[in-house]
Amino acid sequence: NPAKPLSGLKVIVTAGGTVERIDPVRYITNDSSGKMGYAIAETAKRMGADVTVVTGKATAALPAGVKVVHVESTADMMNAVLSRFEDADIVIKAAAPSDYRPALRSDKKIKKKDETMTLELVKNPDILQTLGQRKAKQFLVGFAAETDNGEQYAMDKLARKNCDLLVLNDVTVPGAGFGTDTNIVSVYDKDGLVESLPQMSKLDVAQNLLSLVALRLNTRGGS
Ligand code: PMT
Repeated sequence: NPAKPLSGLKVIVTAGGTVERIDPVRYITNDSSGKMGYAIAETAKRMGADVTVVTGKATAALPAGVKVVHVESTADMMNAVLSRFEDADIVIKAAAPSDYRPALRSDKKIKKKDETMTLELVKNPDILQTLGQRKAKQFLVGFAAETDNGEQYAMDKLARKNCDLLVLNDVTVPGAGFGTDTNIVSVYDKDGLVESLPQMSKLDVAQNLLSLVALRLNTRGGS
């Protein structure tokens, strides 16, 4: 069915920012609104897929007709994605997971004391890299949010995280990246640049990206 090129396929999309608790009232997070991930989920659903969104903190409206799993930390997101990975055909990692979390999480509100205080952070697991190591049939799409040296970092992430496609957005450009209704992206595969898209709505970015994914799954001969 050409109108529904993803029918019969299970798609997992991650969206939003993760939250790493410091104490009962404070946390570390980022500016992800969930708009990019939710636009991908909505579009994948419209293209016939069975869609699960694993979402951190987000302000955008959740799309209808998709399964939604709410998570808080990067570790929670990792568990939610890994437990569903085996059955998935396509995984798209549009979320912005925190790379670090506080080494200690205080049960009580931390009191104001000295002039300076130091918060020790420890590295979180990299979800996409773990998926890249474990993938079998799954088609894996990563994102790269960069402020400089975009193409170099994108190609590095694509290889290191074993992605089939990687979507680069320069988050310093107005109209691209966090919080906006539009994005400006370039899509890469292991051979380099596949497509550079001009500024367009996140829904249109999703449409272009998923068409590319559908095409590649087709020529791979798998379903
Ligand atoms: O939500 P919006 O406001 O619409 O904004 C959209 C967006 C800017 C968040 C989105 O387009 C985007 O770029 N998402 C990726 C953000 C990010 O974490 O980029 P990164 O370059 O730090 O990470 C690279 C890839 O690894 C990403 O696919 C990320 O989901 C994944 N990752 C990162 C860290 C980690 N611990 N685990 C991961 O899986």
